[in-house]
Amino acid sequence: MDQAESLRKLAKTKQKKGPTVAAVASGKGGTGKTSFCVNLAIALSGLGKSTMIIDADLGLSNVDVMLDAHPKHNIGEVLQGLVPLSEAVCKGHGGIWYVSGGSGEEAVMRIRRDMLKSLQKQMAELGADLDYILIDCGAGVNETMLRMIASADECLLVVTPEPTAITDAFVLLKMLAARREKLAISFVMNRADTPLEAMTMSRYFKNIVSKYLGFELYFLGQVAFDKNVVNSINKQMPLMLSYPNSPAAKDILRIAGQYANVETPRASGGLSGFFEKIAMRYGK
Ligand SMILES: Nc1ncnc2c1ncn2[C@@H]1O[C@H](COP(=O)(O)OP(=O)(O)O)[C@@H](O)[C@H]1O
Ligand SMILES: [Mg+2]
Repeated sequence: MDQAESLRKLAKTKQKKGPTVAAVASGKGGTGKTSFCVNLAIALSGLGKSTMIIDADLGLSNVDVMLDAHPKHNIGEVLQGLVPLSEAVCKGHGGIWYVSGGSGEEAVMRIRRDMLKSLQKQMAELGADLDYILIDCGAGVNETMLRMIASADECLLVVTPEPTAITDAFVLLKMLAARREKLAISFVMNRADTPLEAMTMSRYFKNIVSKYLGFELYFLGQVAFDKNVVNSINKQMPLMLSYPNSPAAKDILRIAGQYANVETPRASGGLSGFFEKIAMRYGK
């Protein structure tokens, strides 16, 4: 399958109603998921696509640090009906919506249809007419993570050119393949020293995944190694806003444009559809 064909496949998954839910994942930690997630959300929002981030990296959550937003409640509490969504959602830099995933695993296990209905209603009341929901997943391959990824409409993998990052991403995909999950998966090559390195490693990664797992990955593009990414975190002002002309910001903007263009009408059951699928998977 060529790029164009995988692009069409990706587009097909977006023809349903509601926002597209994308799990931003990696095999190895520290590949740049959170940085990418935050800046992609801001870039998409700048392109007129309303975007929400759910921080689901429970151990090493740092979206709030990057966005300088500190919600007091999380989506788990909303699902349990303990607090309204409006108390868990913040609007962060760049007009993006942000909500903490909390340790919602138990709440998700006890999800009922009426809770999802209520969540959907509250989203509408908040005016969160979202185009995208990006879930910042934790690293590593565990059952919770696999369920989360498999319940999303698609997966955005963040890899770096290091062999360990490539190997760990491969293991994550292998686990998804073993579960016979059918997902649209695209990837970003982050922190490459040169475009040539990014291209070489991306081609290699795409080929081994295709050859050994039978998955066709869609390559969204590369994000250059750029010290401004670290500077922006120190400033607590996302790269897209603090260094909009830096190489990495330009790369992310290009990726956002390409990603948003893939979109045809709109996606699946949105946020409540996502939680419904997770809840269903606990029965397995
Ligand atoms: N393109 C990049 N260039 C340089 N440093 C980066 C880049 N992307 C991420 N980083 C740095 O890598 C570290 C890990 O990034 P982070 O987004 O927290 O990764 P993760 O969420 O995958 O653990 C941070 O210090 C971040 O500043
Ligand atoms: Mg992170």
